[in-house]
Amino acid sequence: MNKLCLLGLLVSLASQSAFADSPAAAPLQDKQAFIANLLKQMSVEEKIGQLRLISIGPEMPREKIREEIAAGRIGGTFNSITRDENRPMQDAAMRGRLKIPMFFAYDVIHGHRTIFPISLGLAASWDMQAIAQVGRTSALEAAADGIDMTFAPMVDIARDPRWGRTSEGFGEDTYLVSRISRVMVESFQGHSPANADSIMASVKHFALYGAVEGGRDYNTVDMSPTRMYNEYLPPYRAAIDAGAGGVMVALNSINGVPATSNTWLMNDLLRRDWGFKGVTVSDHGAITELVRHGVAADGKQAAQLAIKAGIDMSMNDTLYGQELPGLLKSGAVSPAELDNAVREILGAKYDMGLFADPYRRIGQAKDDPADTYADSRLHRDIARDVARRSLVLLENRQQTLPLKKSGTIALVGPLADAPIDMMGSWAAAGRPHQSVTVREGLRRALGDKARVLYAKGSNVTGDKAVLDYLNFLNFDAPEIVDDPRPAAVLIDEAVKAARQSDVVVAVVGESRGMSHESSSRTTLEIPAVQRELIKALKATGKPLVLVLMNGRPLSLAWEREQADAILETWFSGTEGGNAIADVLLGDYNPSGKLAITFPRSVGQIPMYYNHLRIGRPFTPGKPGNYTSQYFEEPNGPLYPFGYGLSYSTFSVSAPSLSSTTLKQGQSLEVSVRVKNTGQRDGETVVQLYLQDVAASMSRPVKELKNFQKLMLKAGEERTLHFTVQPDDLKFYNSQLQWVAEPGEFNVQVGLDSETVQQQRFELL
Ligand code: NOJ
Repeated sequence: MNKLCLLGLLVSLASQSAFADSPAAAPLQDKQAFIANLLKQMSVEEKIGQLRLISIGPEMPREKIREEIAAGRIGGTFNSITRDENRPMQDAAMRGRLKIPMFFAYDVIHGHRTIFPISLGLAASWDMQAIAQVGRTSALEAAADGIDMTFAPMVDIARDPRWGRTSEGFGEDTYLVSRISRVMVESFQGHSPANADSIMASVKHFALYGAVEGGRDYNTVDMSPTRMYNEYLPPYRAAIDAGAGGVMVALNSINGVPATSNTWLMNDLLRRDWGFKGVTVSDHGAITELVRHGVAADGKQAAQLAIKAGIDMSMNDTLYGQELPGLLKSGAVSPAELDNAVREILGAKYDMGLFADPYRRIGQAKDDPADTYADSRLHRDIARDVARRSLVLLENRQQTLPLKKSGTIALVGPLADAPIDMMGSWAAAGRPHQSVTVREGLRRALGDKARVLYAKGSNVTGDKAVLDYLNFLNFDAPEIVDDPRPAAVLIDEAVKAARQSDVVVAVVGESRGMSHESSSRTTLEIPAVQRELIKALKATGKPLVLVLMNGRPLSLAWEREQADAILETWFSGTEGGNAIADVLLGDYNPSGKLAITFPRSVGQIPMYYNHLRIGRPFTPGKPGNYTSQYFEEPNGPLYPFGYGLSYSTFSVSAPSLSSTTLKQGQSLEVSVRVKNTGQRDGETVVQLYLQDVAASMSRPVKELKNFQKLMLKAGEERTLHFTVQPDDLKFYNSQLQWVAEPGEFNVQVGLDSETVQQQRFELL
């Protein structure tokens, strides 16, 4: 826990009433003594009960659950998301012998009731204030619904967009994801996770889940220690340093050892080296899966491995309950090992303020909202502002955008009027009917100033097997409503609308379920039926704007040739349609920048900007033979990391340095002149990268180390200053020592990762 959190906790404890009726009447102010005293009074069964985290589904027998809780056989739940659902469970806990409160968790990933853009979109804002608002608002809304903990932030670095969960994280870059990780934890937890309007953050998925082989979900991860330490681990560490109270452990194995049974990961790295003092939670069913991983012969061994490795709480897994009594009896698991796990769970409950007041977030029935789903409980203004900041303008030929607010616009595409897809996956308690689609956003913005002709134009996919797969993912209702008319009929309708219009806006891409857990793809293309639609629209000769909805980089080389403008909108949330209309119509000047590389084709994967240097790099303009490249298509990405256009243009000068040398303990100033050379006010992101010229091991071609987002009026010029310190030059060397090696470095500054200007300095 950081100092700020600790301070907040002490302040709030001072105002807490003691947990009066509890037999554990040790002074509440002294966390360790309080918990030690409580532990002493617990039976083995009650202790094992605390380790159990269960999912509450609509089909679950409520009465039975309450009995189990009162008997001390459940420690916490997830997926129950209203105060009146959670209150009877807490009442049951208060009927228990020791009155140990339950906690209630949920996957609040990018909003709770108000849905913000998916995480990959949030990252594209490069706007830490906006992201902090997302975290804070999510916490306020979730806490107001009686939720104590979120399984977020998800900070898995993703460099293989075939992986469906790419949508859920903040992109490919260690520095950017680490900055966001910190901001999310701080904003979820506020001054203290004990506050009634805060929720505890459980960072996930520890560790390296984004590096599953081939981008196939749940696959293995095999990674060198230096890559791990330099590139993949820092975002989790940032969350821990920011005071995250929980860690969710990944489903994958790491170099052959499943994270769930990985003693090195949880005991050595997380607790010993990083000093983590909170609770660890397994992912869904992960303890049982140790048998399928082939590291446990049976459930008994699986439970033994997990608890010894440091899994405190088991998510929807029955093995702790079944096997721990026997394991304790035989001595295979020691009482101290059980106590360690229970202590962390009780500690987390303590830190969430639940011993002081088990109803801290559930409140009293008389104060429950009359309508939990009321629109007045949403934070639409914030959602619209953040969504606008997340949109990335990829192409804009002949200033096709912004559109005129007059004439006729053909609005087509399977995602133009798709409320459920606006929300993206992991949409928490969001309700589709509350999300503004692109169609609705344009209608509201244009009123009767311009005519909008709408036609669906195509289904999301024409592949029945894919449709069935995606619809299977939703338990309540089919995710994708398929239009039964033949594809040609749908296209004809759209073409007719296009012919009568001045411009065509086609909203195409993926349905939300295509970028989700367990939704890995072998291609990054827009589904074929939608490409047919694009082809037909192009043939009309009308200016064509593609509005993309998707949760991962797509390969867009062909689409780039067809379209006059492309706006990447991810899944932009409750207010997405309004935000997209703001950008399409020029009421907001786009400022988003990609937080992940867009490759030309799936065959180039993995493709990320900060790759290690190699002996035979491809050099543009030189003969390609015997250099590192693919010979059938141009080398390099279609859109690089950090890229995004504006309705304005910006220039950046070459960086100037305050000194050409840097000594230990000192810092260096890097200055650039940035100018808005266009006709409109707008924001851009100035990015600073560093390159180690020669080190004891190959280092990346460049690494993001800082950035500043700034607003410039049309014609305005400003000088920006960045500070570089020896710490910014450090990396884990082959002995895993954190060092800055003396020698030369290039500092590179630009508006994306590819187009940079550089200066050299020396670390003495
Ligand atoms: C499984 C997912 O991997 C994890 O991210 C999520 O938090 C849990 N299910 C609970 O929903």
